[in-house]
Amino acid sequence: MNSTRVFIDGHWASPTSGEILDMVAPSTGEKIGTIARGAAADIDMAVKAARRAFEGPWGQMAAVDRGRLLSRLGQKILEHEDELTALEALDTGKALKLARNDIKAVARYFEFYGGAADKLHGETIPFLNGYQVMILREPRGVTGHIIPWNYPAQMFGRTLGPALAAGNAAVLKPAEEACLSCIRLTELAAEVGFPDGAINLVPGLGEEAGAALSSHPDIDLISFTGSPEVGVLIQKAAAENHVPCVLELGGKSPQIVFADADHGKAIETIVAALVQNTGQTCSAGSRVLIERSIYDQFMTQLSRRFKNLRAGPHQMDLDCGPVISKVQQERVLGFLERARADNIEIAAQGEVHAGASDGGYFVPPTLFRLVPRDHELAREEVFGPVLAAIPFDDEADAIRLANGTDFGLIAGVWTDSGARQMRMAKAIRAGQVYINGYGAGGGIELPFGGFKKSGHGREKGFEALREFTVAKTVVFNHG
Ligand code: NAI
Ligand code: MG
Repeated sequence: MNSTRVFIDGHWASPTSGEILDMVAPSTGEKIGTIARGAAADIDMAVKAARRAFEGPWGQMAAVDRGRLLSRLGQKILEHEDELTALEALDTGKALKLARNDIKAVARYFEFYGGAADKLHGETIPFLNGYQVMILREPRGVTGHIIPWNYPAQMFGRTLGPALAAGNAAVLKPAEEACLSCIRLTELAAEVGFPDGAINLVPGLGEEAGAALSSHPDIDLISFTGSPEVGVLIQKAAAENHVPCVLELGGKSPQIVFADADHGKAIETIVAALVQNTGQTCSAGSRVLIERSIYDQFMTQLSRRFKNLRAGPHQMDLDCGPVISKVQQERVLGFLERARADNIEIAAQGEVHAGASDGGYFVPPTLFRLVPRDHELAREEVFGPVLAAIPFDDEADAIRLANGTDFGLIAGVWTDSGARQMRMAKAIRAGQVYINGYGAGGGIELPFGGFKKSGHGREKGFEALREFTVAKTVVFNHG
Protein backbone atom coordinates (compact mmCIF):
# COMPACT_ATOMS: atom_id res chain seq x y z
CA MET A 1 0.00 0.00 0.00
CA ASN A 2 1.12 3.55 -0.78
CA SER A 3 0.74 4.49 2.83
CA THR A 4 3.67 6.90 3.08
CA ARG A 5 2.68 8.82 -0.03
CA VAL A 6 0.39 11.54 -1.24
CA PHE A 7 -1.79 11.04 -4.32
CA ILE A 8 -1.65 14.04 -6.62
CA ASP A 9 -2.54 14.31 -10.31
CA GLY A 10 -2.99 10.56 -10.64
CA HIS A 11 0.39 9.67 -9.14
CA TRP A 12 1.63 8.47 -5.77
CA ALA A 13 4.62 10.47 -4.56
CA SER A 14 6.54 11.19 -1.38
CA PRO A 15 5.38 14.34 0.39
CA THR A 16 7.54 17.40 -0.27
CA SER A 17 8.77 17.37 3.32
CA GLY A 18 9.89 13.74 2.98
CA GLU A 19 8.46 13.23 6.45
CA ILE A 20 6.13 10.58 7.78
CA LEU A 21 3.80 10.19 10.75
CA ASP A 22 3.33 7.05 12.84
CA MET A 23 -0.04 5.33 12.96
CA VAL A 24 -1.09 3.54 16.13
CA ALA A 25 -3.71 0.80 16.71
CA PRO A 26 -6.13 2.08 19.38
CA SER A 27 -6.76 -1.49 20.59
CA THR A 28 -3.12 -1.93 21.67
CA GLY A 29 -1.39 1.44 21.46
CA GLU A 30 1.17 -0.19 19.16
CA LYS A 31 2.52 1.23 15.94
CA ILE A 32 0.91 -0.30 12.84
CA GLY A 33 2.27 1.83 10.04
CA THR A 34 3.11 5.26 8.77
CA ILE A 35 1.47 7.92 6.63
CA ALA A 36 2.83 10.88 4.69
CA ARG A 37 3.13 14.18 6.49
CA GLY A 38 1.73 16.24 3.64
CA ALA A 39 1.83 20.01 4.06
CA ALA A 40 1.27 23.31 2.27
CA ALA A 41 3.42 22.55 -0.81
CA ASP A 42 1.60 19.25 -1.42
CA ILE A 43 -1.79 20.87 -0.92
CA ASP A 44 -0.88 23.55 -3.43
CA MET A 45 0.14 20.95 -6.02
CA ALA A 46 -3.05 18.99 -5.33
CA VAL A 47 -5.26 22.05 -5.79
CA LYS A 48 -3.48 22.90 -9.05
CA ALA A 49 -3.91 19.33 -10.30
CA ALA A 50 -7.59 19.41 -9.37
CA ARG A 51 -8.02 22.69 -11.24
CA ARG A 52 -6.42 21.20 -14.36
CA ALA A 53 -8.68 18.15 -14.10
CA PHE A 54 -11.74 20.32 -13.68
CA GLU A 55 -10.84 22.42 -16.69
CA GLY A 56 -9.75 19.35 -18.65
CA PRO A 57 -10.89 15.76 -19.19
CA TRP A 58 -12.72 15.33 -15.88
CA GLY A 59 -14.71 18.53 -16.26
CA GLN A 60 -15.65 17.60 -19.80
CA MET A 61 -16.79 14.07 -19.01
CA ALA A 62 -20.51 13.40 -19.54
CA ALA A 63 -22.51 12.95 -16.34
CA VAL A 64 -23.39 9.38 -17.26
CA ASP A 65 -19.69 8.48 -17.55
CA ARG A 66 -18.85 10.14 -14.24
CA GLY A 67 -21.67 8.13 -12.71
CA ARG A 68 -20.29 4.91 -14.19
CA LEU A 69 -16.88 5.53 -12.60
CA LEU A 70 -18.50 6.09 -9.21
CA SER A 71 -20.63 2.97 -9.55
CA ARG A 72 -17.58 0.97 -10.57
CA LEU A 73 -15.76 2.19 -7.46
CA GLY A 74 -18.74 1.07 -5.36
CA GLN A 75 -18.46 -2.41 -6.89
CA LYS A 76 -14.72 -2.51 -6.39
CA ILE A 77 -15.12 -1.61 -2.71
CA LEU A 78 -17.51 -4.55 -2.27
CA GLU A 79 -14.96 -6.85 -3.92
CA HIS A 80 -12.45 -5.69 -1.27
CA GLU A 81 -14.91 -5.75 1.63
CA ASP A 82 -12.97 -8.15 3.87
CA GLU A 83 -9.65 -6.42 3.37
CA LEU A 84 -11.10 -2.94 3.95
CA THR A 85 -13.06 -4.13 6.99
CA ALA A 86 -9.92 -5.49 8.65
CA LEU A 87 -7.96 -2.34 7.85
CA GLU A 88 -10.66 0.01 9.17
CA ALA A 89 -11.08 -2.00 12.39
CA LEU A 90 -7.34 -2.11 13.05
CA ASP A 91 -6.83 1.58 12.31
CA THR A 92 -9.79 2.97 14.30
CA GLY A 93 -10.22 0.24 16.93
CA LYS A 94 -13.88 -0.17 16.05
CA ALA A 95 -15.52 -3.59 16.36
CA LEU A 96 -15.27 -5.69 13.20
CA LYS A 97 -19.03 -5.83 12.64
CA LEU A 98 -19.22 -2.05 12.70
CA ALA A 99 -16.24 -1.72 10.38
CA ARG A 100 -17.99 -4.08 7.96
CA ASN A 101 -21.11 -1.90 8.04
CA ASP A 102 -18.94 1.11 7.32
CA ILE A 103 -17.39 -0.53 4.26
CA LYS A 104 -20.82 -1.53 2.97
CA ALA A 105 -21.90 2.08 3.53
CA VAL A 106 -18.98 3.55 1.59
CA ALA A 107 -19.81 1.24 -1.32
CA ARG A 108 -23.41 2.44 -1.15
CA TYR A 109 -22.34 6.08 -1.21
CA PHE A 110 -20.62 5.48 -4.54
CA GLU A 111 -23.53 3.42 -5.86
CA PHE A 112 -26.07 6.04 -4.80
CA TYR A 113 -24.14 8.99 -6.19
CA GLY A 114 -23.08 7.00 -9.26
CA GLY A 115 -26.76 6.56 -10.06
CA ALA A 116 -27.55 10.17 -9.21
CA ALA A 117 -24.83 11.79 -11.34
CA ASP A 118 -27.05 12.13 -14.44
CA LYS A 119 -30.26 12.87 -12.54
CA LEU A 120 -29.48 16.29 -11.19
CA HIS A 121 -31.75 18.36 -13.39
CA GLY A 122 -31.95 22.12 -13.78
CA GLU A 123 -35.14 24.17 -13.99
CA THR A 124 -36.92 26.55 -16.28
CA ILE A 125 -38.73 29.62 -14.97
CA PRO A 126 -41.73 31.41 -16.47
CA PHE A 127 -40.66 35.01 -17.05
CA LEU A 128 -41.73 38.00 -19.16
CA ASN A 129 -43.16 37.47 -22.63
CA GLY A 130 -40.36 37.03 -25.13
CA TYR A 131 -38.00 35.48 -22.57
CA GLN A 132 -36.98 32.03 -21.57
CA VAL A 133 -35.05 31.43 -18.37
CA MET A 134 -33.21 28.32 -17.33
CA ILE A 135 -31.32 27.45 -14.19
CA LEU A 136 -28.24 25.32 -14.76
CA ARG A 137 -26.78 23.40 -11.84
CA GLU A 138 -23.05 23.55 -12.33
CA PRO A 139 -20.26 22.00 -10.28
CA ARG A 140 -18.48 24.43 -7.99
CA GLY A 141 -15.05 23.54 -9.34
CA VAL A 142 -12.30 22.44 -6.96
CA THR A 143 -13.61 21.23 -3.63
CA GLY A 144 -11.57 20.78 -0.43
CA HIS A 145 -12.53 18.06 2.03
CA ILE A 146 -11.28 17.71 5.61
CA ILE A 147 -12.63 14.67 7.44
CA PRO A 148 -12.27 13.17 10.93
CA TRP A 149 -11.00 9.85 12.25
CA ASN A 150 -14.20 8.34 13.62
CA TYR A 151 -15.55 7.02 10.29
CA PRO A 152 -12.69 7.46 7.80
CA ALA A 153 -14.08 5.09 5.15
CA GLN A 154 -17.68 6.25 5.40
CA MET A 155 -16.60 9.87 5.34
CA PHE A 156 -14.58 9.21 2.19
CA GLY A 157 -17.80 8.18 0.44
CA ARG A 158 -20.03 10.72 2.12
CA THR A 159 -17.93 13.69 1.09
CA LEU A 160 -16.35 12.57 -2.21
CA GLY A 161 -19.41 10.73 -3.58
CA PRO A 162 -21.60 13.80 -4.13
CA ALA A 163 -18.68 16.12 -4.95
CA LEU A 164 -17.46 13.86 -7.77
CA ALA A 165 -20.97 12.98 -8.98
CA ALA A 166 -21.64 16.69 -9.40
CA GLY A 167 -18.45 17.05 -11.47
CA ASN A 168 -16.09 18.71 -8.99
CA ALA A 169 -12.40 17.82 -8.72
CA ALA A 170 -11.52 17.06 -5.11
CA VAL A 171 -8.64 17.42 -2.66
CA LEU A 172 -9.07 15.30 0.47
CA LYS A 173 -7.17 15.77 3.74
CA PRO A 174 -8.05 12.81 5.99
CA ALA A 175 -7.40 12.73 9.74
CA GLU A 176 -3.92 11.97 11.06
CA GLU A 177 -5.32 9.63 13.75
CA ALA A 178 -6.86 7.18 11.26
CA CYS A 179 -6.84 7.26 7.47
CA LEU A 180 -5.42 3.97 6.18
CA SER A 181 -8.75 3.05 4.60
CA CYS A 182 -8.84 6.40 2.79
CA ILE A 183 -5.43 5.61 1.27
CA ARG A 184 -6.60 2.17 0.17
CA LEU A 185 -9.88 3.58 -1.20
CA THR A 186 -7.90 6.13 -3.21
CA GLU A 187 -5.85 3.28 -4.70
CA LEU A 188 -9.07 1.54 -5.70
CA ALA A 189 -10.39 4.78 -7.21
CA ALA A 190 -7.21 5.06 -9.27
CA GLU A 191 -7.73 1.48 -10.50
CA VAL A 192 -11.25 2.13 -11.78
CA GLY A 193 -9.90 4.91 -13.98
CA PHE A 194 -10.81 8.33 -12.62
CA PRO A 195 -8.89 10.86 -14.75
CA ASP A 196 -5.73 12.32 -13.22
CA GLY A 197 -6.44 15.09 -10.74
CA ALA A 198 -10.14 14.29 -10.20
CA ILE A 199 -9.29 12.85 -6.77
CA ASN A 200 -6.25 14.00 -4.80
CA LEU A 201 -5.32 12.77 -1.34
CA VAL A 202 -2.95 14.58 1.01
CA PRO A 203 -2.64 12.96 4.46
CA GLY A 204 -1.03 15.09 7.14
CA LEU A 205 -1.61 17.13 10.26
CA GLY A 206 -4.62 19.37 10.70
CA GLU A 207 -2.60 22.48 11.47
CA GLU A 208 -0.34 21.89 8.46
CA ALA A 209 -2.10 20.19 5.53
CA GLY A 210 -5.61 20.97 6.85
CA ALA A 211 -4.92 24.64 7.44
CA ALA A 212 -3.23 24.94 4.03
CA LEU A 213 -6.29 23.47 2.33
CA SER A 214 -8.88 25.59 4.13
CA SER A 215 -6.91 28.78 3.43
CA HIS A 216 -6.06 27.97 -0.18
CA PRO A 217 -7.24 30.80 -2.44
CA ASP A 218 -8.06 28.55 -5.38
CA ILE A 219 -10.64 26.22 -3.89
CA ASP A 220 -14.33 26.83 -4.57
CA LEU A 221 -15.84 25.17 -1.52
CA ILE A 222 -14.60 23.50 1.64
CA SER A 223 -16.44 20.65 3.33
CA PHE A 224 -15.40 19.90 6.91
CA THR A 225 -16.48 17.44 9.57
CA GLY A 226 -14.91 17.65 13.01
CA SER A 227 -14.83 19.76 16.16
CA PRO A 228 -16.66 23.07 16.57
CA GLU A 229 -13.34 24.75 17.44
CA VAL A 230 -11.66 23.74 14.20
CA GLY A 231 -14.91 24.53 12.35
CA VAL A 232 -14.41 28.15 13.38
CA LEU A 233 -10.81 28.15 12.11
CA ILE A 234 -11.89 26.62 8.79
CA GLN A 235 -14.64 29.15 8.31
CA LYS A 236 -12.38 32.08 9.16
CA ALA A 237 -9.69 30.88 6.77
CA ALA A 238 -12.24 30.32 4.00
CA ALA A 239 -13.79 33.73 4.63
CA GLU A 240 -10.49 35.40 3.67
CA ASN A 241 -11.01 34.03 0.17
CA HIS A 242 -14.84 34.20 0.17
CA VAL A 243 -14.98 30.44 -0.08
CA PRO A 244 -18.24 28.84 1.10
CA CYS A 245 -18.20 26.05 3.71
CA VAL A 246 -20.24 23.01 4.58
CA LEU A 247 -19.58 22.32 8.27
CA GLU A 248 -20.69 19.31 10.30
CA LEU A 249 -19.57 19.83 13.89
CA GLY A 250 -21.18 17.19 16.04
CA GLY A 251 -23.90 17.43 18.63
CA LYS A 252 -25.50 16.55 21.93
CA SER A 253 -28.41 14.71 20.46
CA PRO A 254 -31.37 13.80 22.68
CA GLN A 255 -33.38 10.59 22.89
CA ILE A 256 -36.75 11.69 24.28
CA VAL A 257 -38.81 8.97 25.93
CA PHE A 258 -42.48 9.57 26.77
CA ALA A 259 -44.44 7.35 29.15
CA ASP A 260 -46.51 5.81 26.36
CA ALA A 261 -43.49 4.55 24.36
CA ASP A 262 -42.48 0.94 23.79
CA HIS A 263 -39.75 0.88 26.45
CA GLY A 264 -38.07 -2.34 25.40
CA LYS A 265 -37.59 -1.20 21.82
CA ALA A 266 -36.49 2.26 22.95
CA ILE A 267 -33.84 0.89 25.32
CA GLU A 268 -32.27 -1.41 22.72
CA THR A 269 -31.99 1.41 20.21
CA ILE A 270 -30.87 4.04 22.72
CA VAL A 271 -28.03 1.83 23.95
CA ALA A 272 -26.98 0.77 20.46
CA ALA A 273 -27.01 4.35 19.16
CA LEU A 274 -24.82 5.52 22.03
CA VAL A 275 -22.24 2.75 22.16
CA GLN A 276 -21.87 2.51 18.39
CA ASN A 277 -18.27 3.38 17.61
CA THR A 278 -17.69 3.78 21.36
CA GLY A 279 -19.71 6.99 21.46
CA GLN A 280 -17.46 8.62 18.88
CA THR A 281 -20.25 9.46 16.50
CA CYS A 282 -21.34 12.99 15.65
CA SER A 283 -24.96 11.89 15.86
CA ALA A 284 -24.57 9.81 19.05
CA GLY A 285 -27.69 10.01 21.20
CA SER A 286 -25.76 11.12 24.25
CA ARG A 287 -28.66 12.46 26.35
CA VAL A 288 -31.68 10.41 27.31
CA LEU A 289 -34.61 12.58 28.40
CA ILE A 290 -37.22 10.56 30.27
CA GLU A 291 -40.76 11.52 31.30
CA ARG A 292 -40.75 11.82 35.08
CA SER A 293 -43.64 9.41 35.67
CA ILE A 294 -41.61 6.51 34.22
CA TYR A 295 -38.14 7.75 35.12
CA ASP A 296 -37.28 5.25 37.87
CA GLN A 297 -38.70 2.26 36.10
CA PHE A 298 -37.03 3.15 32.79
CA MET A 299 -33.68 3.81 34.48
CA THR A 300 -33.81 0.41 36.18
CA GLN A 301 -34.19 -1.29 32.82
CA LEU A 302 -31.63 0.91 31.09
CA SER A 303 -29.11 0.35 33.91
CA ARG A 304 -29.51 -3.41 33.63
CA ARG A 305 -28.63 -3.22 29.95
CA PHE A 306 -25.71 -0.82 30.56
CA LYS A 307 -24.13 -3.06 33.18
CA ASN A 308 -23.77 -5.80 30.59
CA LEU A 309 -21.88 -3.67 28.09
CA ARG A 310 -18.31 -4.65 27.34
CA ALA A 311 -15.44 -2.74 25.78
CA GLY A 312 -12.54 -4.59 24.19
CA PRO A 313 -10.22 -4.77 21.18
CA HIS A 314 -11.77 -4.55 17.72
CA GLN A 315 -11.29 -8.23 16.90
CA MET A 316 -13.40 -9.29 19.92
CA ASP A 317 -16.39 -7.58 18.31
CA LEU A 318 -17.88 -6.35 21.61
CA ASP A 319 -20.28 -3.47 22.29
CA CYS A 320 -17.45 -0.93 22.39
CA GLY A 321 -13.88 -0.77 21.18
CA PRO A 322 -11.21 1.56 22.50
CA VAL A 323 -11.47 5.28 21.80
CA ILE A 324 -9.21 6.57 19.08
CA SER A 325 -6.19 7.87 21.00
CA LYS A 326 -4.59 8.55 24.35
CA VAL A 327 -5.68 12.18 24.00
CA GLN A 328 -9.30 11.17 23.43
CA GLN A 329 -9.16 8.67 26.31
CA GLU A 330 -7.93 11.39 28.65
CA ARG A 331 -10.59 13.75 27.38
CA VAL A 332 -13.38 11.25 28.07
CA LEU A 333 -11.94 10.20 31.45
CA GLY A 334 -11.78 13.91 32.31
CA PHE A 335 -15.57 14.14 31.90
CA LEU A 336 -15.97 11.10 34.20
CA GLU A 337 -13.68 12.56 36.84
CA ARG A 338 -15.35 15.97 36.85
CA ALA A 339 -18.78 14.31 37.09
CA ARG A 340 -17.54 12.38 40.14
CA ALA A 341 -16.19 15.57 41.69
CA ASP A 342 -19.59 17.20 41.10
CA ASN A 343 -21.32 14.25 42.85
CA ILE A 344 -23.23 13.09 39.80
CA GLU A 345 -24.23 9.53 40.44
CA ILE A 346 -23.33 6.68 38.12
CA ALA A 347 -26.44 4.57 37.47
CA ALA A 348 -24.54 1.77 35.77
CA GLN A 349 -21.17 1.08 34.27
CA GLY A 350 -20.05 -1.61 31.86
CA GLU A 351 -16.64 -3.22 31.90
CA VAL A 352 -13.44 -3.29 29.97
CA HIS A 353 -12.85 -6.93 28.97
CA ALA A 354 -10.16 -8.65 31.04
CA GLY A 355 -8.39 -9.69 27.84
CA ALA A 356 -7.98 -6.11 26.60
CA SER A 357 -4.42 -4.84 26.26
CA ASP A 358 -3.25 -2.35 28.90
CA GLY A 359 -1.87 -0.26 26.07
CA GLY A 360 -5.32 0.14 24.43
CA TYR A 361 -7.39 3.28 24.96
CA PHE A 362 -10.39 1.80 26.75
CA VAL A 363 -13.12 3.57 28.70
CA PRO A 364 -15.95 1.75 30.51
CA PRO A 365 -19.42 2.56 29.10
CA THR A 366 -21.06 4.76 31.74
CA LEU A 367 -24.64 5.86 32.42
CA PHE A 368 -25.16 8.89 34.68
CA ARG A 369 -28.47 9.49 36.48
CA LEU A 370 -30.19 12.82 37.25
CA VAL A 371 -27.64 14.95 35.43
CA PRO A 372 -28.33 18.64 36.19
CA ARG A 373 -29.48 20.47 33.09
CA ASP A 374 -26.65 22.97 33.15
CA HIS A 375 -23.87 20.44 33.76
CA GLU A 376 -21.30 19.84 31.02
CA LEU A 377 -22.48 16.22 30.76
CA ALA A 378 -25.88 17.56 29.72
CA ARG A 379 -24.53 20.17 27.31
CA GLU A 380 -21.17 19.20 25.81
CA GLU A 381 -20.11 16.55 23.36
CA VAL A 382 -18.13 13.89 25.25
CA PHE A 383 -17.37 11.72 22.20
CA GLY A 384 -17.09 8.59 24.31
CA PRO A 385 -19.47 5.88 25.64
CA VAL A 386 -21.13 8.16 28.18
CA LEU A 387 -24.88 8.67 28.49
CA ALA A 388 -26.55 11.39 30.58
CA ALA A 389 -30.10 10.70 31.84
CA ILE A 390 -32.36 13.66 32.65
CA PRO A 391 -36.05 13.61 33.67
CA PHE A 392 -38.63 15.98 32.16
CA ASP A 393 -42.11 17.03 33.29
CA ASP A 394 -44.26 17.34 30.18
CA GLU A 395 -44.08 17.88 26.43
CA ALA A 396 -43.24 21.58 26.69
CA ASP A 397 -40.44 20.78 29.13
CA ALA A 398 -39.13 18.05 26.82
CA ILE A 399 -38.95 20.49 23.92
CA ARG A 400 -37.21 23.11 26.04
CA LEU A 401 -34.68 20.55 27.19
CA ALA A 402 -34.17 19.01 23.75
CA ASN A 403 -33.45 22.44 22.25
CA GLY A 404 -31.52 23.64 25.28
CA THR A 405 -27.96 23.07 24.06
CA ASP A 406 -25.78 24.88 21.55
CA PHE A 407 -26.17 21.92 19.18
CA GLY A 408 -28.92 20.62 16.93
CA LEU A 409 -27.82 17.64 14.85
CA ILE A 410 -30.35 14.84 15.35
CA ALA A 411 -33.02 13.70 17.81
CA GLY A 412 -35.05 10.60 18.65
CA VAL A 413 -38.63 10.81 19.91
CA TRP A 414 -40.25 7.78 21.52
CA THR A 415 -44.03 7.97 21.83
CA ASP A 416 -47.08 6.19 20.47
CA SER A 417 -49.13 9.35 20.12
CA GLY A 418 -49.25 10.37 16.46
CA ALA A 419 -50.15 13.97 17.16
CA ARG A 420 -47.30 14.31 19.62
CA GLN A 421 -44.89 12.72 17.16
CA MET A 422 -45.75 15.44 14.66
CA ARG A 423 -45.63 18.28 17.20
CA MET A 424 -42.23 17.13 18.45
CA ALA A 425 -40.83 16.72 14.94
CA LYS A 426 -41.80 20.30 14.18
CA ALA A 427 -40.62 21.78 17.49
CA ILE A 428 -37.17 20.21 17.61
CA ARG A 429 -34.38 22.27 16.09
CA ALA A 430 -32.21 19.53 14.59
CA GLY A 431 -31.29 18.39 11.10
CA GLN A 432 -32.87 14.95 11.51
CA VAL A 433 -35.68 13.82 13.81
CA TYR A 434 -36.43 10.12 14.21
CA ILE A 435 -39.76 8.91 15.54
CA ASN A 436 -39.58 5.57 17.39
CA GLY A 437 -36.15 4.88 15.96
CA TYR A 438 -32.74 6.44 15.72
CA GLY A 439 -29.73 6.42 13.48
CA ALA A 440 -28.17 8.39 10.70
CA GLY A 441 -25.16 6.20 9.94
CA GLY A 442 -26.58 4.12 7.14
CA GLY A 443 -28.98 6.71 5.79
CA ILE A 444 -27.14 7.58 2.61
CA GLU A 445 -30.32 8.93 1.00
CA LEU A 446 -31.28 11.08 3.99
CA PRO A 447 -30.21 14.74 4.10
CA PHE A 448 -28.06 15.28 7.17
CA GLY A 449 -26.62 18.33 8.90
CA GLY A 450 -26.93 20.73 11.75
CA PHE A 451 -28.81 23.60 13.24
CA LYS A 452 -26.95 26.07 15.47
CA LYS A 453 -23.39 25.02 16.42
CA SER A 454 -23.80 21.61 14.85
CA GLY A 455 -22.91 23.36 11.61
CA HIS A 456 -24.54 24.34 8.36
CA GLY A 457 -25.05 22.97 4.91
CA ARG A 458 -26.35 19.49 4.21
CA GLU A 459 -24.66 16.22 3.37
CA LYS A 460 -26.12 12.93 2.11
CA GLY A 461 -29.01 12.40 -0.27
CA PHE A 462 -29.72 14.81 -3.11
CA GLU A 463 -29.20 17.76 -0.78
CA ALA A 464 -25.47 17.08 -0.89
CA LEU A 465 -25.51 17.33 -4.67
CA ARG A 466 -27.10 20.75 -4.32
CA GLU A 467 -24.33 21.84 -1.92
CA PHE A 468 -21.66 20.71 -4.35
CA THR A 469 -23.26 22.60 -7.23
CA VAL A 470 -24.17 26.20 -7.82
CA ALA A 471 -27.17 27.60 -9.69
CA LYS A 472 -26.51 29.62 -12.83
CA THR A 473 -29.39 31.63 -14.29
CA VAL A 474 -29.44 31.94 -18.08
CA VAL A 475 -31.90 34.40 -19.61
CA PHE A 476 -32.79 34.24 -23.33
CA ASN A 477 -34.40 37.26 -24.89
CA HIS A 478 -35.87 35.59 -27.96
CA GLY A 479 -38.32 38.36 -28.73
P1 NAI B 1 -10.52 18.02 14.89
O1 NAI B 1 -11.64 18.95 14.54
O2 NAI B 1 -9.23 18.62 15.35
O3 NAI B 1 -10.17 17.09 13.62
C1 NAI B 1 -10.99 16.89 12.49
C2 NAI B 1 -10.20 17.11 11.21
O4 NAI B 1 -9.77 18.47 11.17
C3 NAI B 1 -8.91 16.29 11.09
O5 NAI B 1 -8.72 15.90 9.74
C4 NAI B 1 -7.83 17.28 11.49
O6 NAI B 1 -6.57 16.98 10.92
C5 NAI B 1 -8.37 18.56 10.91
N1 NAI B 1 -7.85 19.78 11.54
C6 NAI B 1 -7.43 19.95 12.82
N2 NAI B 1 -6.98 21.20 13.01
C7 NAI B 1 -7.12 21.85 11.82
C8 NAI B 1 -6.84 23.16 11.38
N3 NAI B 1 -6.31 24.08 12.19
N4 NAI B 1 -7.13 23.49 10.10
C9 NAI B 1 -7.68 22.58 9.26
N5 NAI B 1 -7.94 21.32 9.62
C10 NAI B 1 -7.68 20.95 10.89
O7 NAI B 1 -11.08 17.01 15.97
P2 NAI B 1 -10.23 16.20 17.06
O8 NAI B 1 -9.25 17.10 17.71
O9 NAI B 1 -9.69 15.00 16.41
O10 NAI B 1 -11.37 15.79 18.10
C11 NAI B 1 -11.76 16.69 19.14
C12 NAI B 1 -13.25 16.63 19.37
O11 NAI B 1 -13.93 17.06 18.21
C13 NAI B 1 -13.81 15.26 19.65
O12 NAI B 1 -13.69 14.90 20.99
C14 NAI B 1 -15.25 15.44 19.24
O13 NAI B 1 -15.99 16.03 20.28
C15 NAI B 1 -15.16 16.39 18.07
N6 NAI B 1 -15.20 15.67 16.78
C16 NAI B 1 -16.39 15.60 16.11
C17 NAI B 1 -16.49 14.86 14.96
C18 NAI B 1 -17.76 14.75 14.21
O14 NAI B 1 -18.00 13.72 13.58
N7 NAI B 1 -18.58 15.76 14.20
C19 NAI B 1 -15.35 14.11 14.43
C20 NAI B 1 -14.12 14.29 15.18
C21 NAI B 1 -14.09 15.03 16.31
MG1 MG C 1 -7.96 18.65 17.06
